[in-house]
Amino acid sequence: MKRRHLGTDHEYSAETLALGYGYDPRLSEGAVKPPIFLTSTFQFASALEGKRFFELAYGLRQANKGEIPGLIYSRLNNPNLQIFEERLAAWDKTDRGLTFASGMAAISTSLLALVKPGEHVLSTAPVYGGTHFLLEHILPGFGIGTTQVLAGSDAVERLRAAAAAVPAGKVAMLYLETPANPSNVLTDIAGVVALAAELEATTGRRPVVAVDNTFLGPVFQRPAEQGADLVLYSATKFIAGHSDLVAGVATGRAAIMEQVALFRTILGTQPNAFTGWLLLRSLETVSIRMHRQAKSARRLASVLLEHPRVTAVHYPGLLQEGDPQHAIYQRQCTGPGSLISFEVQGGEEAAYKVLDSFEVFRLAVSLGGTESLVEHPATMTHADVPPELLGSFGVSPGMIRMSIGLEHLSDLRRDLEHALSKLG
Ligand SMILES: Cc1ncc(COP(=O)(O)O)c(C=O)c1O
Repeated sequence: MKRRHLGTDHEYSAETLALGYGYDPRLSEGAVKPPIFLTSTFQFASALEGKRFFELAYGLRQANKGEIPGLIYSRLNNPNLQIFEERLAAWDKTDRGLTFASGMAAISTSLLALVKPGEHVLSTAPVYGGTHFLLEHILPGFGIGTTQVLAGSDAVERLRAAAAAVPAGKVAMLYLETPANPSNVLTDIAGVVALAAELEATTGRRPVVAVDNTFLGPVFQRPAEQGADLVLYSATKFIAGHSDLVAGVATGRAAIMEQVALFRTILGTQPNAFTGWLLLRSLETVSIRMHRQAKSARRLASVLLEHPRVTAVHYPGLLQEGDPQHAIYQRQCTGPGSLISFEVQGGEEAAYKVLDSFEVFRLAVSLGGTESLVEHPATMTHADVPPELLGSFGVSPGMIRMSIGLEHLSDLRRDLEHALSKLG
């Protein structure tokens, strides 16, 4: 199956491609599902073939028309990873995907590949705690400058101001997490892409626009359609969807992915074949899972909204016409997802009371799995962000983050109401 059918020029939808694209059963005894290619290395048909495969892999020559890079060694390429990468790139409408051993491996490998010492990354905030640590504590050690600005409807202006404080031509990347973890605040992807063009016109350098698409992608948000260059995921979450593996993905334009692929090969941040196989299995159901999870989340967000001791509910599905966040949502999202953050009266103590009272929701970090989870961002996923900074990013001690799974809605609603009743 081709992304675009040669005979009819018909473009298949991502859901269909997830079931067949990138795999030829004739190469695997007719097996309908790709086998797991548990092999570290691949046999060459001849020494000349091995030489030619390496020339391509190490960028020593350009590929001939229609030439497919050959299999060499599983740190460079493996069929299970490649099939998954082609299917996710098709979903994201990008040229190429690369799978990683974790979301953090995807993010850190991409940043190291695309930003050099003396250059700068401007990002929105909050971002996932691990990404925050990378930006604040690890990249500066490599001579890379980082500035974080508050995510949201005015983030483009804040990024513009931050860019003005960096020497001309030194902004290498504009990094967004939208919706932001855990505040669920949206940033205008197309607006940031326009800023990148503006910076190119004034400084001669167009920064790479990278978007962490973990919360809504690949089903409800396609950053590349808004002009983003690089789409990043913790595939541990919705893409894998069963809380049984850790993985990451990056997809994007061919030229950018070539640089990231080289760094993945040398840093060795790829996952193993079995993880690739599990990701392939999961990608087949990602759309139905995410739609069903979002349907339940909408209902539970309304329950929260009506509770007298819940002071705020942050969920894209609750945005109202007239709110600039709603305009961003309409422009770039096709569904609200299933992550809800809410704040309770009484700070950390009250939040802990609620967290300790769930029976169906499990008290655990991570998100996007079939089971519902709850956690306390300020002292768990974002514990390494200083409390004052976290407060300025809109994350309060009374905030609870929920990931809605596939349990029956009536059980989830009952469990939530029971836990909230502990607030008095
Ligand atoms: C938005 C976001 N990005 C990246 C990551 C990191 O992914 P991983 O845990 O797979 O390394 C996470 C993990 O929670 C996340 O929530």
